[in-house]
Amino acid sequence: MRTPFICGNWKMYKTVSEAMAFLDAAKGLVGGVNDVDIGIGAPATALKSLADGAKGSNIMIGGENCHWENEGAFTGEISPQMLVEAGCKFVIIGHSERRRYFGETNETVNKKVKAALAAGLVVIMCCGETLAEREAGKTDAVVADHVKNGIAGLSMDEMAKVVIAYEPVWAIGTGKTATPEQAQDVHAVIRKLLAGMFGDAVAQTTRIQYGGSVKPENVREIMAKPDVDGALVGGASLKPDSFAKLVNFKA
Ligand code: 13P
Repeated sequence: MRTPFICGNWKMYKTVSEAMAFLDAAKGLVGGVNDVDIGIGAPATALKSLADGAKGSNIMIGGENCHWENEGAFTGEISPQMLVEAGCKFVIIGHSERRRYFGETNETVNKKVKAALAAGLVVIMCCGETLAEREAGKTDAVVADHVKNGIAGLSMDEMAKVVIAYEPVWAIGTGKTATPEQAQDVHAVIRKLLAGMFGDAVAQTTRIQYGGSVKPENVREIMAKPDVDGALVGGASLKPDSFAKLVNFKA
């Protein structure tokens, strides 16, 4: 049985004070939910305050990226250890925006995944095809490339702390959601891949989130698909009301 995991990805939105105002409101709105894992991926500056404020609540705070070393001369970077000490429970790695704008590759993603797991974080590893790749019939191949290489070399135990997020690039921030069937098709491909890499038990327990224009109006039908175990949500996670509706998708 996979516990659904609804997670916000705030990207480069919210100052510390804005983040704390959100948290105060959201805690009241989702406090009664105990059958869904709830996360917020937030900008680095707000992580410590958010994590302190979320203590004792059912909201987990996470980073949106980290480096693969725990310290060093890497100006501008943040280490997995720093995220842990700030109170983070998870980190998002390999988001398409990081791949596109910041030179993230399968190789750096894999190094970051391993380092984050070693530090004790849950990892949300992102994968997904561009529109051109989908139109060229390459969706399955691109997703397989991201997944296989991103989690290469992990043990079955480590996989217990890995969540895969399928985020078709053409659906991110565009209002164009993948249909529930399109999401299900790719999620099934990913689960099969996991079975090939780690065996059936790992494949059946690993959560696969969908991301790309998820909102309160469509979350229920997407979550209804058998291989969709959660959502990674950008725009619709920025307002407490909307975030709470996503978390309460069963209601
Ligand atoms: P939107 O929900 O804004 O489309 O963003 C999706 C995303 O990139 C989550 O990581």
